[in-house]
Amino acid sequence: MPLVAPSLLASDFLHLDRECKMLDQSEADYFHLDVMDGRFVPNISYGLPVIKQLRKTTKKFFDVHLMIVEPEKYAEAFKDAGADGLTVHYEACAHLHRNIQQIHQLGMRAGVAINPHTTVDLLKDVINDIDLVLLMSVNPGFGGQKFIPHSIEKIKDLKALIQRYNSKALIEVDGGVSTENANEIVRAGADVLVAGSSVFNAPDPADVILRLKNAGK
Ligand code: DX5
Ligand code: ZN
Repeated sequence: MPLVAPSLLASDFLHLDRECKMLDQSEADYFHLDVMDGRFVPNISYGLPVIKQLRKTTKKFFDVHLMIVEPEKYAEAFKDAGADGLTVHYEACAHLHRNIQQIHQLGMRAGVAINPHTTVDLLKDVINDIDLVLLMSVNPGFGGQKFIPHSIEKIKDLKALIQRYNSKALIEVDGGVSTENANEIVRAGADVLVAGSSVFNAPDPADVILRLKNAGK
């Protein structure tokens, strides 16, 4: 069964408390929290004070996706705000290995995200140092985009790379994931499904989460 990580980006920000309680009571495994800085991506989302407040609503895993430049400046602050795992972008880190070490030293799980144009082969030299690879299946910055079909091939390539190096890294797929394509994504090798709009725009978000949990069977 895949892990399901609803992205709060598509939730009702006016009623975050209610949205978090719904997720807490659902089959969701992670809270996927998208932080954007208007520099690495052409959009700004939410940051530390919001995550600190959300932390009070649940004990579930906080999977923080940093779409920001210079993530090393903020890693400790995100830990203090309640992050359990921190994912940084390959494209945003000149010293990725050092960033990964820092995240581990702070006691969090370390993930590396790659954009649609970044080949999975570039992860070979860090694949044994990380807990998770986040494969962007849309260009980061916005929710509600269409899944890029080529991502399926990338999931398979990444799975092969992970097996070749005997890595324990999980494969997380982020962008345009829905009950329509989840089976194919899980069968290709995904361990974690991120879903924003397909969950929060649905009349019954908890039911979509349940259906995503059962994907790939
Ligand atoms: C996009 C974010 C995603 C986003 C996914 O930059 O990383 O996590 O919330 O949204 P959907 O599921 O609507 O594509
Ligand atoms: Zn994300």
